[in-house]
Amino acid sequence: MSSSTIAGTEVTAEELVGREVPATYKAAYVEKKDAVALWEQPEETRQRADVRETLKVGEMPMPELAPDEVLVAVMASALNYNTVWSARFEPIPGFVFLNHLAKSGGWNERHDQDQHVLGSDAAGVVVRTGSAVEDWGEGDSVVIWPGWGNAERATRYHDVVLGDQNLAWGFETNFGGLANYAIVRTTQLMPKPKHLTWEEAACNTLCAMTAYRMLVSPNGAPFKQGDIVFVWGAAGGLGSYALQLIRNGGGISVGVVNSDEKERLIRELGCDLVIRRDQLELDGLEPRKWAKVFREEVRGAFGEDPHVVFEHVGKQTFWASVYLTRPGGRVVTCGSSTGYEHTFDNRYLWMKAKSIVGSHGSTPQEGLECNRLFEMGKLQPALSKVVALDDVAEAAHDLEANRHVGKVGVLCQAPEEGLGIEDPQRRAEIGESKIQLFRSFGQ
Ligand SMILES: NC(=O)c1ccc[n+]([C@@H]2O[C@H](COP(=O)([O-])OP(=O)(O)OC[C@H]3O[C@@H](n4cnc5c(N)ncnc54)[C@H](OP(=O)(O)O)[C@@H]3O)[C@@H](O)[C@H]2O)c1
Repeated sequence: MSSSTIAGTEVTAEELVGREVPATYKAAYVEKKDAVALWEQPEETRQRADVRETLKVGEMPMPELAPDEVLVAVMASALNYNTVWSARFEPIPGFVFLNHLAKSGGWNERHDQDQHVLGSDAAGVVVRTGSAVEDWGEGDSVVIWPGWGNAERATRYHDVVLGDQNLAWGFETNFGGLANYAIVRTTQLMPKPKHLTWEEAACNTLCAMTAYRMLVSPNGAPFKQGDIVFVWGAAGGLGSYALQLIRNGGGISVGVVNSDEKERLIRELGCDLVIRRDQLELDGLEPRKWAKVFREEVRGAFGEDPHVVFEHVGKQTFWASVYLTRPGGRVVTCGSSTGYEHTFDNRYLWMKAKSIVGSHGSTPQEGLECNRLFEMGKLQPALSKVVALDDVAEAAHDLEANRHVGKVGVLCQAPEEGLGIEDPQRRAEIGESKIQLFRSFGQ
């Protein structure tokens, strides 16, 4: 247990552990009644929910701890796009997931509540352990891998993503990380990189580990040195880590962004070709011409097409992604922000033997390998901005409106930014300018 001050003046891990577990805790949540009210409206007239109204912050009852769980005092968390989906109750209300989970009985019944505590990223201190916990102890500083499942199921052990229970914590489960406390299974715990602050450590797990599986793991569409990798949304949550992984692995990156600020950021990250989609004349173009604009940008720079296209934008870009990829190349996708019913011209896929690879989250092993890269200083946090837990709804609205850069951190129990560094020497070796690169953007 760290005896250094980690949570503001005089607060050590020991003191955090010594505090009584409160009966209620502050958390960001959505309510079942709002989901019901929205879904009762006829489909033709149903308006999109305003996340500033549906995402609330208040006191939640402290759940009981299952034997294989720990209670984490969350020092910091981060926003993910899945919080936007949850607060819009799209594509279906998260309460449907909670209800389904509860049907498996036992401790899982706790998840089916009228309030859903959100959040799939967090860093903090283990303050209580369930009776069956062996490897983790009170006072451990942790980051939380967001995959949630039953460790007894053998289907987890080859590739958890293929298993029959692979849920996103704080999205498909309750008691997530946008809160002062979180309930976490021991299978989710990973050591916090000791040189990072709470907010720097908290923002990485979901997006970096997802990008790692997509581009590095054999389970995704791994690139080789010299391969051209085309990244949509290169300064967003996923894209910011994708660019770092491509640079580390000797790939050639093509990053698409929509502003001067994002262009400057990805150039700093070493992006080899920047495409400014806001500066291209794309309006009204039919899909092939739209896609051709991007293909010509890449061909103009390198004389060849991408080996891998990194997809998460979905409906808007997918046609182009399939078209852009070189013969034998791969489109790897983990999401559909602009709509999940994609169209593409299948001739460009089958006649050139291209593949589409679906990817979702990561396995614990992929997560650990990615976490190790942060510990070694080979990956840096994409943290551009930090907000208070009270301001999470406004920040989620900004995320939805694409007004952010990289990741937005959220202070939970940490009273201020900059706390939680347990290895200042390591931090100095890596260098503030590298670790804090994103902080000069997106304020
Ligand atoms: N399955 C999984 O495990 C997993 C994990 C993480 C995220 N996701 C999903 O992946 C998606 C992206 O997540 P994120 O955290 O990277 O979100 P993000 O931080 O909002 O970044 C998305 C980026 O996409 C770009 N973009 C937005 N609209 C676009 C459009 N119409 N055309 C082209 N580019 C557009 C934006 O870049 P520019 O405007 O600069 O071009 C933005 O920076 C979300 O749907 C999320 O739910 C899935």
